[in-house]
Amino acid sequence: MKKSKVKTIGILTSGGDAPGLNTAIRGLARTCIQQYGIKIIGIQNGYRGLILGDGQEMGPDDFSGILTRGGTILGTSRTKPFKKPMPDPKTGLLPIEAIKQNYKKWNLDALCVLGGNGTNTTAGLLAEEGLNVIGLPKTIDNDIVETDVTIGFHTAVDVATEAIDRLHTTAHSHNRIMVIELMGHKAGWLGLYSGVAGGGDVILLPEIPYHVDSIAQHLKQRKIAGKPFSIVVVAEGALSEAESFLSKKEFKKNRTGMIGSIGYRVARELEAATGLESRVSVLGYLQRGGIPSPYDRVLATEFGVRAAHMVAAGDFGKMVAKCGDSFVGIPLKKVAGKVKSVPLDHPAIISARDVGSCFGD
Ligand code: F6P
Repeated sequence: MKKSKVKTIGILTSGGDAPGLNTAIRGLARTCIQQYGIKIIGIQNGYRGLILGDGQEMGPDDFSGILTRGGTILGTSRTKPFKKPMPDPKTGLLPIEAIKQNYKKWNLDALCVLGGNGTNTTAGLLAEEGLNVIGLPKTIDNDIVETDVTIGFHTAVDVATEAIDRLHTTAHSHNRIMVIELMGHKAGWLGLYSGVAGGGDVILLPEIPYHVDSIAQHLKQRKIAGKPFSIVVVAEGALSEAESFLSKKEFKKNRTGMIGSIGYRVARELEAATGLESRVSVLGYLQRGGIPSPYDRVLATEFGVRAAHMVAAGDFGKMVAKCGDSFVGIPLKKVAGKVKSVPLDHPAIISARDVGSCFGD
């Protein structure tokens, strides 16, 4: 057994779930237990459980058989302890006071949180409050700064690509425009990767505001070239160029009363502009559910194991990040409150343009 001053840690998962969370929990917990003899407290339902004191000790058996399981065995929530904090009506405690009490009650030496931008931002605030915290990056959106990739992203790309492949055959049979709406409110990584992998004729991302006329022109050209069917991949955060100039408030107003989500609007606009029949598929939560891909299993294991070694070394206040082939600790302050957008000169965008995909600009 290797030596560490750390005796007990808490683990929680917070925010939207993603395939690979359980794999990362397994990597983290097994390494802590087997290599360092560290005790694990599993905290239920994210930061809500941390506030409510909802947690219990978990042993090696609890982390067995979960490598391939989707979701999170710990449960999750979108509770944000620092957002409009209110005292608990029964105890009178503010969320941060309750968290500190529970941290003490469980004798925690550190807390490991697995989550997206919001989760790691909260982790940074907890570190500022004096807790020993380590973050692990998980989101199918892949929009966390300072890390090349996040847990769950590649599985979601696989799922979305398979859906696009399936839509291709039916688009071809009926000579239709098939619009597929994917997740990604703030960043278009999922739309870009699955759009390129699935040969999307049009790929609309939040980073590149679209003009209906440019897309319609592209689709009409395809028809003239003997391809009267097309695949249009739309990230849920896609927006028109006119909308890109609006303030947050004006944007919200502009979307009020819109029938269906953005994919439906794009389909209506394209049908009107081209006269081509259009259909919409919204992939939704299928992108988040189910077993992690082999890539995500390896990635999540590596993230979990690396986090365990950081715990044992007392390397706190950091998020584990993948940089090239290495896993490194990045100060949570550098991650907090930021979103990793797709750069407009990303090689995948340039390559997609070169093979004829239209980004609507
Ligand atoms: O996991 C990130 C994400 O999938 C976003 O792309 C999406 O907008 C959001 O979660 C929706 O999740 P929920 O409905 O669980 O809040």
